[in-house]
Amino acid sequence: MKVASKNESEIKESLSPEIQNISSEQLRNKVVSAWLMALEQTSFDSLKDLGQFKGINTAEHVRGVAAIALGIVKGIKEVFPDFSVNVDTVVAGALCHDLGKPFEYDPNNESNWGKNRWATGNPALRHSVYGAHIALNAGFPLEVVHVVGSHSVEGAYLQRSLEASIVHYADKVFWEAVGRVKFGKNLFQLAGIMQKEMY
Ligand SMILES: [Fe+2]
Ligand SMILES: [Fe+2]
Repeated sequence: MKVASKNESEIKESLSPEIQNISSEQLRNKVVSAWLMALEQTSFDSLKDLGQFKGINTAEHVRGVAAIALGIVKGIKEVFPDFSVNVDTVVAGALCHDLGKPFEYDPNNESNWGKNRWATGNPALRHSVYGAHIALNAGFPLEVVHVVGSHSVEGAYLQRSLEASIVHYADKVFWEAVGRVKFGKNLFQLAGIMQKEMY
């Protein structure tokens, strides 16, 4: 495995300014170190190197999801002023929800799964599951691990927290918006082009 050449300050820059919405310095540091761990285990050097769909890189995607999620939080607070939403969990979860994508999209892993897909599955693990593994190893609280592990289709088998639901829908809305604005296609059509779920 290649060791990531990018350092923590470059990762932090690629997650800015949204990362500044996390009030806890300790949690902000965990977000950066978790992404460093995720990249170190793969061929990718930075979030910007890992494209997700037609030129949109992972840094742009997770920042976009965090921005949409913060918009949902703002709406909830306007409608239910006394209701508590953990903004730190939402933002850390949004910025880290695709932690497992460098693993799922790594060309070495993709070719390994191609060699013996009947034995390994294809992919062996989807990014939400592998991302939860990284999130646990990074020492995130279970609330953030849950957001990462349940953000995608696998979360349909769990009872998502409010924070996880916010990130799940923000992620879907990101791809719906990209599909319609940039390509005139909806999420279902994008999944057909990619031959897998977008999120
Ligand atoms: Fe995802
Ligand atoms: Fe995503």
